[in-house]
Amino acid sequence: MQITKPWLYLPAQVTYNIGHPLLKIWAKVRKQQTFNWQQFDWRGLHFNNPLGTSGGIDKNAELIEAWWSFGAGFVEIGTVTPRPQKPNSGKILGRNVGHLALWNKMGFPNDGALSVKARLDKIRRPYPTPLFINIGKNRDTDNLHASEDYLYCIRELKSYADVFVVNISSPNTADLRQLLKPENLQILLRPIAEECRNAKPLILKLSPDMSISAFKEALDISYELGISGWIISNTTLNRAEGLNFPKEGGVSGLPVADRAKAFLKLAVEHLGERRFDRLLISSGGILTPQDVFERLHIGAQLVQVYTGLVFNGPLFFSHVAQEVK
Ligand SMILES: Cc1cc2nc3c(=O)[nH]c(=O)nc-3n(C[C@H](O)[C@H](O)[C@H](O)COP(=O)(O)O)c2cc1C
Repeated sequence: MQITKPWLYLPAQVTYNIGHPLLKIWAKVRKQQTFNWQQFDWRGLHFNNPLGTSGGIDKNAELIEAWWSFGAGFVEIGTVTPRPQKPNSGKILGRNVGHLALWNKMGFPNDGALSVKARLDKIRRPYPTPLFINIGKNRDTDNLHASEDYLYCIRELKSYADVFVVNISSPNTADLRQLLKPENLQILLRPIAEECRNAKPLILKLSPDMSISAFKEALDISYELGISGWIISNTTLNRAEGLNFPKEGGVSGLPVADRAKAFLKLAVEHLGERRFDRLLISSGGILTPQDVFERLHIGAQLVQVYTGLVFNGPLFFSHVAQEVK
């Protein structure tokens, strides 16, 4: 991929800071576009196309209308936590253009569930696409009480969400990934699944750093608890050779692509027929239209992008739709 985007010459954090207001202005001055390809209906939700935004790209529900305007098939906001919180200290964002990779150590900075709720309240219904709300726990909530944080977010935001995403796979909140361990996952998910049963689809976002057996076990446990689907996957703690990011923090983009694909394949195989009434969503290293089609071909019904939008810009939705033609 040729990198000709001016924002890639600025430091990653600067691009991040100016990106939101610029994206909003850009979205406002262009004609809203809707791309209809591989339309998909699932549990009463209609997707014009299967390509959407990934968690973290709009933590505070400030860009929903912009993503709609650029033609996303669905939009995810968050991760939202019950109380507002600041980012982790120190450097929290990096970029390596040669490796088509981002690095972040953000740790769920967000305005908190009530501020996000106030912002969502101003958006007119019906939404043109499904809205996913990604929820997390505050960093000072210990794992024993984590489910209370997720329940709080669901109760506060349920009239705005079409789908909830439970994020316990970020590497940037201490011990969060411990909740993916089978013995903890049961305890965490049971009350959350109960709360959402017959109300909202609930999706679990998995980590690319799980062992194969832990990954399969997490699928089985969450399937049995009635989880509606899985996002495969979040950022990785692994470092590709030559990638000089700090040891802590999650890497996204090309270095996570192989693992995201391998785990998607594994989920398709392992779930077998069980996957047909659930949703498989691929995330990780989707950088070209061909990557989108490949993930759909492997068996994802939906595909999400974050790093791909940083490297390609928001017209990526349009480029993919053109390739379909
Ligand atoms: C800067 C940054 C912040 C992120 N924040 C979140 C987040 O708050 N919640 C979440 O579930 N995932 C978050 N992610 C992970 C992405 O949603 C996505 O799963 C991951 O980056 C892999 O996809 P990609 O290669 O398309 O970026 C973040 C990723 C990046 C790069």
